[in-house]
Amino acid sequence: MGRDIREQVTRYLADAHSIEEQSLQQMRSAPDIAGEPELERAFVEHLAETERHESRILTLLEERGASPSRSKDVVMRAGGAAFMLWGRIQPDTPGKLAAHALSYEALEWAAYDLLARTADRAGEGAVADAARDLRDEERVMMDRIERLFDRTVDASLRAQDTDDLEDLLRTYLADAHAIEAQSIQLLESGKEMVADYPTLARLFEEHLSESRAQQQLLEERLEALGGSWSLIKDAAMRIGALEWGTFFFGHPDTPGKLAAFAYAFEHLEIGGYEQLRRVAFRVGDVGTVQAAERLIKEERRTADKLADAFDEAVTAALTEAGVA
Ligand SMILES: [Fe+2]
Ligand SMILES: [Fe+2]
Ligand SMILES: [Fe+2]
Repeated sequence: MGRDIREQVTRYLADAHSIEEQSLQQMRSAPDIAGEPELERAFVEHLAETERHESRILTLLEERGASPSRSKDVVMRAGGAAFMLWGRIQPDTPGKLAAHALSYEALEWAAYDLLARTADRAGEGAVADAARDLRDEERVMMDRIERLFDRTVDASLRAQDTDDLEDLLRTYLADAHAIEAQSIQLLESGKEMVADYPTLARLFEEHLSESRAQQQLLEERLEALGGSWSLIKDAAMRIGALEWGTFFFGHPDTPGKLAAFAYAFEHLEIGGYEQLRRVAFRVGDVGTVQAAERLIKEERRTADKLADAFDEAVTAALTEAGVA
């Protein structure tokens, strides 16, 4: 028995509400730990926007006689709070926060884009318009963060108690290696979910082999800098313990969530490589600067291709939910 497309819109609205709840949680404490005045200001500004988003979604839910999912909201709020605790103990908090925030805003951008497309199909123009408004405000926040990477890298470097930048660069490379491992995991499990949808299936397949090559490139750079496998193992433990993606976004159990999640994950990588490139530049390591430039290009291209496939993701989500 197929579900109604209107119900699917309601479900997306409830998801959006949970995402905004977590965002609120983050925006309330992020300014205190930002460690960089412009980043702090961006968070403060976005807190006001996020409050508006939450209440607009709440109104949309109420107008259709629905309510937010309290249990989902609680889980997401807890994730937001736990992240902030973790952020406080990172020595390079400004950089990590900026990369994470870019990724989180990308998740919101994707969630609203998917909601708008679903609402279009349901003939719910008012919801589609609202979703596009909110989506565009998430993009504005993404752009703000992107402009701050020079500053967040400076602040991160100042916060380090080492003057051995090369050592720091090795840690960044090892961290990136661990993030790629999680990306590979996500793509491997995700490709099964989108196997019946040709654009997404091909994209996942292509980026899976690309990500393996990226990991290889990171290993080569680490080796060139005299880094050892133990660095990679340490990073895998440190990063793996948090499980970046699933920690914030939960398990992507539908094609729609998977697409949004993958889009967010690419932005986590983009943020990481934007920092890596700048740190490598400080060290004067041309090889790693060039490697980071290649990686940034590949992750951005993948993010764009994913967004281009969102219409297929909506079809996939509706099909799997028994609507289409
Ligand atoms: Fe946001
Ligand atoms: Fe990657
Ligand atoms: Fe990637």
